[in-house]
Amino acid sequence: MAKPTLTVTDNRTGQSYELPIKDGTIRAIDLRQIKESPDDFGLMSYDPAFLNTASCRSKITFIDGERGILRYRGYPIEELSERSSFMEVAYLILNGELPTAAELAGFTHQVVHHTLVHENLKKLMDGFRYDSHPMAIFVSMVGALSTFYKSSANIFDVEKRRLQMIRLIAKVPTIAAWSYRHSVGNSYVYPRNDLSYAANFLHMFKHLPTMTYTVHPVLERALDVLFILHADHEQNASTSAMRGVGSSNVDPYSAMAGAAASLYGPLHGGANEAVLRMLTQIGTKENIGELIRRVKAGEGRLMGFGHRVYKSYDPRAKVIRDLAKQVFEVTGTNPLLDIALELERIALSDDYFVQRKLYPNVDFYSGLIYQAMGFPVDMFPVLFAIPRTVGWLAQWEEMILDSDTRIYRPRQIYEGPGLRHYVPVADRK
Ligand code: SDX
Repeated sequence: MAKPTLTVTDNRTGQSYELPIKDGTIRAIDLRQIKESPDDFGLMSYDPAFLNTASCRSKITFIDGERGILRYRGYPIEELSERSSFMEVAYLILNGELPTAAELAGFTHQVVHHTLVHENLKKLMDGFRYDSHPMAIFVSMVGALSTFYKSSANIFDVEKRRLQMIRLIAKVPTIAAWSYRHSVGNSYVYPRNDLSYAANFLHMFKHLPTMTYTVHPVLERALDVLFILHADHEQNASTSAMRGVGSSNVDPYSAMAGAAASLYGPLHGGANEAVLRMLTQIGTKENIGELIRRVKAGEGRLMGFGHRVYKSYDPRAKVIRDLAKQVFEVTGTNPLLDIALELERIALSDDYFVQRKLYPNVDFYSGLIYQAMGFPVDMFPVLFAIPRTVGWLAQWEEMILDSDTRIYRPRQIYEGPGLRHYVPVADRK
């Protein structure tokens, strides 16, 4: 049986070291024994953006980027999006097992009865300019929630911790809908206990005092599936932010404000907003060639394409593309869909994208559905944040309960000036 070790020779000293291999990794700290001289600090690994570094152990989500596989707690995303509901998937991600009927009813009841927010949050919301980006409002509101729940600091009290997690999952649709209502000068619509998670959000988003808004079942199901698809995605940038901020043992509201801020970026959750702006700017199929030329000349990126992990088609993009057809039968097709399909066809046959393994990701088609459902483009990252709240919280709880967890504190390669002494301003050149 081959030994699960790595033997490295330091050619500076001729000394060899045997490093244990476990789960396809070596522990970076094992490099510290490799020294050029006894008072040497020892070797570190240098891995900007953590391209090849496992930051944690996790049991929540499995991704195989080469084979386009995504599973929550072992269940394929294709089966969950076809047969499950977001509430059931949220329970699965948080607890590790699919719920029994009684467990699902109990979980849903808890979420449904925590959808209200403190009335003071309205005053906070009203303080924003009408044209504030709803994702900036969302980030602020999530952080502000910690001021209403002082017991949230007791993160190792399981009852108190789980209550905060339920509160966040329940309240993010309310905050999201109200951030939109504020931006268009409409009154806030209160959540309703008789509606599903997705229907309740649509209701708070669209209902007007002058008319009764009836949620269309196809749109309700489509949003529920989109929430399932966006619920978690292992150690992406925003989840890493959730874990990093949370590693200081801060409350989950403050940690999640950091995660939401990361998701806001155009390279991450802001990508579906950037895709719609890109497709709108293309305008017609005839202009696609010019965009492809500019991207290949390094003058920009094809938004909604590429992924750090998926080097094949993002499995979520496949489900969303099929879901789009069902939505468009109700809403009427989105004229940008033809441009998106043609752009995908051209890109997937172009060596530049094929060689770089750039395929459509989750954000390429999701924006087309959101727009057809009547959501404004700047609401798209907020629509991503609602379901990802479940993943952030599950990953955060796993992190604080992991015996390996310490406060995140990476090292660095210092390239600044050496020792030098203060010079009074009168003596400076
Ligand atoms: C999400 O991590 C997650 O799991 C995220 C997410 C989740 O569920 O949490 O899946 C959600 O964020 C999806 C990604 C949404 N972002 C976009 O669609 C923005 C456009 N995509 C890229 O910016 C990019 O692909 C990233 C950010 C997604 C990934 O970047 P990487 O892995 O750091 O890749 P890279 O920037 O090192 O690029 C590698 C090469 C480069 O070419 P060379 O310099 O080697 O010649 O590929 C090129 C890049 O220029 N490239 C692209 C490209 N993405 C990468 N070229 C054109 N268009 C693109 N979209």
